Amino acid sequence: MPGIVTVNTSPYEGQKPGTSGLRKKVKVFLQENYTENFVQSILDANKGAVALSTLVVGGDGRYLVKEVVDKIIKICAGNGVSRLLVGQNGILSTPAVSCIIRKYKTLGGIVLTASHNPGGIDNDFGIKFNCANGGPAPDATTNQIHALTTQISQYKTVPDLVCPIDKCGVQKFDVEGQTFTVEVIDPVDDYLALMREIFDLPAIGRLLRGEGGRKFNVLIDGMNGVTGPYIQRIFVQELGAPPTSVRRVTPLEDFGGAHPDPNLTYAVELVEEVRGGDYDFGAAFDGDGDRNMIIGRNAFFVTPSDSLAVLAAGAAAVPYFRSRGVAGLARSMPTAAAADRVAKELGLPVFEVPTGWKYFGNLMDAGRLSICGEESFGTGSDHVREKDGIWAALFWLQVLAASGLSVEDTLKEHWRKFGRNYFTRYDYEECASAPCAEMMLSLERTITAPGFAGSVLTGQGKAYTVAAADDFSYMDPVDHSVAMKQGLRIIFTDGSRIVMRLSGTGSSGATVRLYIDSYEPTDVLGDAQDMLRPLVDIALQLSDLPRYTGRAAPTVIT
Ligand code: G6P
Ligand code: ZN
Repeated sequence: MPGIVTVNTSPYEGQKPGTSGLRKKVKVFLQENYTENFVQSILDANKGAVALSTLVVGGDGRYLVKEVVDKIIKICAGNGVSRLLVGQNGILSTPAVSCIIRKYKTLGGIVLTASHNPGGIDNDFGIKFNCANGGPAPDATTNQIHALTTQISQYKTVPDLVCPIDKCGVQKFDVEGQTFTVEVIDPVDDYLALMREIFDLPAIGRLLRGEGGRKFNVLIDGMNGVTGPYIQRIFVQELGAPPTSVRRVTPLEDFGGAHPDPNLTYAVELVEEVRGGDYDFGAAFDGDGDRNMIIGRNAFFVTPSDSLAVLAAGAAAVPYFRSRGVAGLARSMPTAAAADRVAKELGLPVFEVPTGWKYFGNLMDAGRLSICGEESFGTGSDHVREKDGIWAALFWLQVLAASGLSVEDTLKEHWRKFGRNYFTRYDYEECASAPCAEMMLSLERTITAPGFAGSVLTGQGKAYTVAAADDFSYMDPVDHSVAMKQGLRIIFTDGSRIVMRLSGTGSSGATVRLYIDSYEPTDVLGDAQDMLRPLVDIALQLSDLPRYTGRAAPTVIT
């Protein structure tokens, strides 16, 4: 009978969860008791509720997931957790974890992922706690977890408990007289069941199989991340798309060396294949399956901000929204305001929240929000409490199956009707932290100085008048919690916006993000980079970014 052992430990600095959990280099997690301390602190933050609870555990298949699942199983056994639902081989996509937490009404879940960051021994790992609603823990909980990590002196574990996770099935252990159950579950079953409830999958299947006379070829790219088994099962087995419709569908510990972030830079393989091939639709997902990128024939790119707007406008094609209605829309602050125009047309409320999916959760729980998205390639709804890549691709296909239009024509129609929010984002990755912090301080001083509002700024000969500028803060309309300092924004009188913020998801150095959003009611077919150049110039001059970062050009443009 395996027994509980109390291990003495001491705190590590910096175990502070960022935008989406604790993310560090693998080697940081490999330090003695580093992972154990954090897991124990997660459980301690739920003190009182942990005993006799059920938790979900799984991750994106990256290096260290299996080892950490094993540690979590032992520590949960040591802390009186009654039951774990563990993805087979440690595999569960982030939206699937959310789905399973909700379906089985568990206390929460522990997600092992660094999302879209590269994997492998020299790259990143992450641990995130999701609450009973299926969403990432709110700030109050992550702050509490962090506080506990600074005081930890012991953790409890059951070192002799042996629990293989390579086969589905129920394993029961007697831990000092209490039954501890580990249920190894199929990673896809529950998620697929949910997709069947939400969508008219047979209609999407007919489109993908070319029935009804319309040839429609798709290429779905798992980027060697966690979505592989989901893609195989849903697109090939369930919907009957040919096996050549999918690529990189084996989860690999290092993602095959890929940077599993679905954007035009890191998903270039998909973009090239779709551009050179006979494809009507392409989609890629990130390492843990919550992000998505959508492209059309000839690799026509859909910005995530537009994607949100198009899906919101087309929600009636989806049985889930037909039967439940759409209560409201939301986007993160830096996301272009395309969805706001759809909300206006449909008479729906639209919420503007800080960057980070966790800010949507309260609104969804309160029944005020149905569909939301972020410029960072996230789209989702209240079907779970995470963004959901595969769901977004299915949503797109449902809309296209209903309309009979191509991706490009869908966008053009949309812009004709609503006007277009041109959008671009410049990322300057892994810059030195101190000068970036200084740059943000200095820019904040500039834009909040008296007289800045009302001033005229000029880029490439085009003049813009500042209407307002601030460091974005947000009060949650449901629980009235306040999030301060969520990004510097300059709003011009024509509605155009410059936003600058530091990324909260990097694992080393600072990543600066510059976002530009500009609305054009009729001139909708231009090139975004050309259209936005004047505003980019203004932003670079005003912030003095090239001098502070030493970078003449961004690492990634989306
Ligand atoms: C994660 C979160 C998203 C958020 C993104 C921002 O993906 O789940 O909700 O938009 O991080 O990342 P950043 O690096 O800009 O802080
Ligand atoms: Zn992700």
